[in-house]
Amino acid sequence: MNDMTPTSAERAAKLEGMGCKRKRVEDIRFVQGKGSYVDDIKLSGMLYGDLVRSPHGHARVKKIDTTKAAALPGVVAVITAETLKTVNLAWMPTLAGDTQMVLADGKVLFQNQEVAFVIAESRETAADAVELVEVEYEPLPVNVDPLKAMTDGAPMIREDLKDKTDGAHGKRKHYNHIFSWQAGDKAAADAAFAKADVTIKEMIVYPRVHPCPLETCQCVASFDKIKGELTLWGTFQAPHVIRTVGSLISKIPEHKIHVIAPDIGGGFGNKVGAYPGYICAIVASIVTGRPVKWTEDRIENLSTTAFARDFHMDVEVAATKDGRVTGLRCYAIADHGAFDACANATKWPAGLFSIISGSYDFPAAHCLVDGVYTNKAPGGVAYRCSFRVTEAAYCIERAMDIMAQKLGMDPAEFRMKNLIRREQFPYTSAFGWQYDSGDYQTALNKAMESVDYKKLREEQKAKREAFKRGETRELMGIGVAFFTEIVGAGPSRACDILGIAMFDSAEIRIHPTGSGICRLGTKSQGQGHETTYAQIIATELGLPADSITVEEGNTDTAPYGLGTYGSRSTPVSGAATAMACRKIKAKAQMIAAYMLEVHDDDLEWDVDRFRVKGNPERFKTMTELAWAAYHEVPPGMEPGLEAINYYDPPNFTYPFGAYICVVDIDIDTGQSKVRRFYALDDCGTRINPMIIEGQIHGGLTEAFGIAMGQEIHYDADGNVTTASFLDYFLPTAVETPHWETDWTTTPSPHHPIGAKGVGESPNVGGVPCFSNAINDAFAFLGSTHIQMPHDHWRTWMAADKLGLHA
Ligand code: CDP
Repeated sequence: MNDMTPTSAERAAKLEGMGCKRKRVEDIRFVQGKGSYVDDIKLSGMLYGDLVRSPHGHARVKKIDTTKAAALPGVVAVITAETLKTVNLAWMPTLAGDTQMVLADGKVLFQNQEVAFVIAESRETAADAVELVEVEYEPLPVNVDPLKAMTDGAPMIREDLKDKTDGAHGKRKHYNHIFSWQAGDKAAADAAFAKADVTIKEMIVYPRVHPCPLETCQCVASFDKIKGELTLWGTFQAPHVIRTVGSLISKIPEHKIHVIAPDIGGGFGNKVGAYPGYICAIVASIVTGRPVKWTEDRIENLSTTAFARDFHMDVEVAATKDGRVTGLRCYAIADHGAFDACANATKWPAGLFSIISGSYDFPAAHCLVDGVYTNKAPGGVAYRCSFRVTEAAYCIERAMDIMAQKLGMDPAEFRMKNLIRREQFPYTSAFGWQYDSGDYQTALNKAMESVDYKKLREEQKAKREAFKRGETRELMGIGVAFFTEIVGAGPSRACDILGIAMFDSAEIRIHPTGSGICRLGTKSQGQGHETTYAQIIATELGLPADSITVEEGNTDTAPYGLGTYGSRSTPVSGAATAMACRKIKAKAQMIAAYMLEVHDDDLEWDVDRFRVKGNPERFKTMTELAWAAYHEVPPGMEPGLEAINYYDPPNFTYPFGAYICVVDIDIDTGQSKVRRFYALDDCGTRINPMIIEGQIHGGLTEAFGIAMGQEIHYDADGNVTTASFLDYFLPTAVETPHWETDWTTTPSPHHPIGAKGVGESPNVGGVPCFSNAINDAFAFLGSTHIQMPHDHWRTWMAADKLGLHA
């Protein structure tokens, strides 16, 4: 080796592999406006569809007259449920085992429900024709309150299920009941409460919110009558699932359906399921023989496509008087709207809600969830969280604060005392989850030191005294949240979607010159997959990340995958990528041994090459081995350098984090200002620290929106009053606070590269942290729980209720 020979570290740096803050390769096209989204797709002869929607929250549809609409020049056809019945598509199956009307069949069950589909030569003509469709409605009594759904005399939402005593998840106990689901040990939990020193009980509501991706849901369907093939471009987080479900519904053979998800402008769970607009566009293309585009507008997106949360949780915690938790009970009502179109793994009607014991060592716990129908839009998606984990994390983190308050303990000190200890991992929770790894105390200590928690509490104490003396009208709140996520669905033994096991896949082809392509069944919606999967390959195979193309979203070329949501890409497909690399590497090692005329075992890996042990001057780089794989393989070996891996994870991964927030509240205006927000995340091995930081910033901004102002609200008549960004708070750079990010690294022991997911964490931990900060501000005045969202009006009201405006 001479002085000019690059060291291993220099060679490793050049690869831009794991741990490198590699710039996002996809941004080159995005920042220049050169992305290719569904709306950029323009096909010859393309038609446009638009939906007639119900103005009523609940009404019988007496008559639909399409004559005037059909007569408008440029209108090609108008489709109603009657049309869809001729092809047996008036109703469609949902991911949750329910059925859903594609177009109103006899009655409408929520405002803006799809009633008819107009197909025209232009989008404008379609919109004009929508106004000309005459629908006669007979309004029915409305219920939008999930707590009243199962009362006597509540309006019956689903007449089609009237006589069904069994649902997809067992017995139904009321005509508006969907499922009951429970976990944990009720007797053990009850016993813990019977002998508890201290207990708390609180109704904690996580309001209905919406993922609101900037790009709404949309598709282009193009049916080729000659070939009998359907090509479907769409905003799909799970393209293969759409293909399979599309085939089952339409009876078009699966190999004749091509699903393509091009660039996607945000998904957050909103783009997992199948919507009536997709079915209508497909039917319209089959009927007309021309491509049909359907594009949702903002109001349609906010008011009809999958919402999130709407969980009403009655939670109880039991503890000893010195502050050790002994029991947890929770009864939750989940409002699923008019159809159960919740995007969960099939066996989990309440998702992974039983992660509700959070990061704490509860010896006994039980939870029960009832799902109910109301006159609201269907959905219940994993909006930037694994299925229902955000609801669980919010509930336990509020409950821990309420208990700390009752015990007179500091919330951070109370948490520290009850966090699962490092030596307890792998840890089995009272609900049976096996937490893979964690070092919670270290994380919370680091967070507290970083913000100088002690000093903040001293400042707060002084301010509270000044407030009591009437010297200030400002309150200071300090929010602490410690969360554990459960991401990477799934192990197939636990998780499937409509019977399809939740594994995932990666196929890697290394070309003769040492560059390559990796294709996956996941689909980035902005998370930077093209950048980060290439980094995994760079480290695993010793090839520069820049020499690897990452391709997702085309069911014709990508291996079968279950898609991207619930932070499953890194835990599952990231693992598949590493495992596929290892197959390639094993073959490359045999080629190297043959070329160097040594035994395989006499070789060792060094960043980008195999070298002879004890003789490092003799080596073959991965680039040389790629070339050799196409012309110099050992006798009997197949040429080529490719591999595919279908990865069925042995367990979920459990990322975690410690967040601390400081708010100042003006009690006379209700205005709150986030002074500081510190987020420490542990997602195991970090692939790209810059992308992780971006994920945290985005997720915290969404959490800020949810905690401080968002709610999809319905009035008593079933009108959705927050169907535009005028009424629904979407934080912009103006409102968004500054984020301080930090990390610890506790690798997952079962993941090939030790990585856990990260995309969902900031939403899961952020919401309780903001809410705890607002609640903490008022706690010394005797307030126990103020419901979200904490907008200025509600905060002012909370102050008012405490008599602070007298
Ligand atoms: O499934 P989804 O892509 O939404 O979530 P994720 O697996 O948490 O990954 C989000 C982004 O963060 C991806 O670009 C990952 O490669 C990156 N990431 C990372 O760099 N290191 C981790 N340990 C986890 C995720």
